[in-house]
Amino acid sequence: MMSQDRTVLVFGATGQQGGSVATALQAKGWRVKALVRDPNSDKAKAIAAQGIELVHGDLTDRQSIQAAMIGIYGVFSVQPSSGQGAASGVTDEAEIRYGKTIAETAIANGVHHLVYSSANAVGATKTEIGHFDTKSEIEKYIRSLNILSTIVRPSAFMEILTLPGMGLDQGEFSFFMRPNQPMQFIAVKDIGKIVAGIFADPAKFGSQTIEIAGDTVTGTELAEKFSRTAERPITYHRFSDSLLEQNAFLGGLAKLVDQGRLAGNADIASLRADFPELLTMDEWLAGAGRPALLAAIQANGSEVALR
Ligand SMILES: NC(=O)c1ccc[n+]([C@@H]2O[C@H](COP(=O)([O-])OP(=O)(O)OC[C@H]3O[C@@H](n4cnc5c(N)ncnc54)[C@H](OP(=O)(O)O)[C@@H]3O)[C@@H](O)[C@H]2O)c1
Repeated sequence: MMSQDRTVLVFGATGQQGGSVATALQAKGWRVKALVRDPNSDKAKAIAAQGIELVHGDLTDRQSIQAAMIGIYGVFSVQPSSGQGAASGVTDEAEIRYGKTIAETAIANGVHHLVYSSANAVGATKTEIGHFDTKSEIEKYIRSLNILSTIVRPSAFMEILTLPGMGLDQGEFSFFMRPNQPMQFIAVKDIGKIVAGIFADPAKFGSQTIEIAGDTVTGTELAEKFSRTAERPITYHRFSDSLLEQNAFLGGLAKLVDQGRLAGNADIASLRADFPELLTMDEWLAGAGRPALLAAIQANGSEVALR
């Protein structure tokens, strides 16, 4: 059977990762269905216009997920998380429930291949950060089930670097790593390319857990790259000790970066052998990253909005 005859159901297709995956699968000739909670939203209409079939459903409604799985070959599973802030309205318990429900309904409908997107900090031991430990539990559950699965663990997205609140509007960029500490990043677009490659070759990628990233940069290198792209000086400092002490969430993430878990341990050279087009930070900044960076520099400052 060719990919053209097979359908992949994508969760979160109106969001970053799901959108990237849906687009990449479509480009490779797969039929793509997207479970969306509001088919009339602008984003849902935009993906429908792209030729992606919308299935109305909600992660809170198990029956709608069950119904969406009928006739499906592959499933891309990603959940919103508490790490995206209170506005997401998602608790850690809900994230776990959503992840498990997708896996259970996939099995019940004879889905052949489940690809679950986790995060790079997830590992054998707890992180003590809610939205990573949720993923650890979902990963463990998926591995315990009788279904062909692949788990990807993306690094921090390049896109988060231009979110408000990290000083770009003041020419003083701050992030988690120390100035000379390397940290891995991935362009969201590349998550889709990798996941499409995984669905295309289940014999190679099935039953694997793969940490994914496109580049490794230090804080100082990032500031140099930002300065070159924006053609103005941008300095780098780690988030201040007082911020990391006051804000337990950011402090916890900084600790995970120091431990190396959130800084990332993807084998980028071997990923590149399979996916040569993975974007480096320079390539991202020459493309979609550039307008995002320039907009962040021109924005008015606000508190750290990183998630
Ligand atoms: N940011 C990073 O650097 C990073 C790195 C690794 C992993 N992660 C993880 O990535 C995940 C988020 O992925 P993302 O950034 O792609 O998310 P996103 O862009 O915020 O998109 C979330 C998607 O989930 C959908 N959704 C939310 N609630 C739903 C519900 N009740 N029923 C059905 N669909 C629902 C949204 O649909 P609507 O259009 O209806 O809102 C949207 O399509 C989180 O678990 C996060 O921890 C993030």
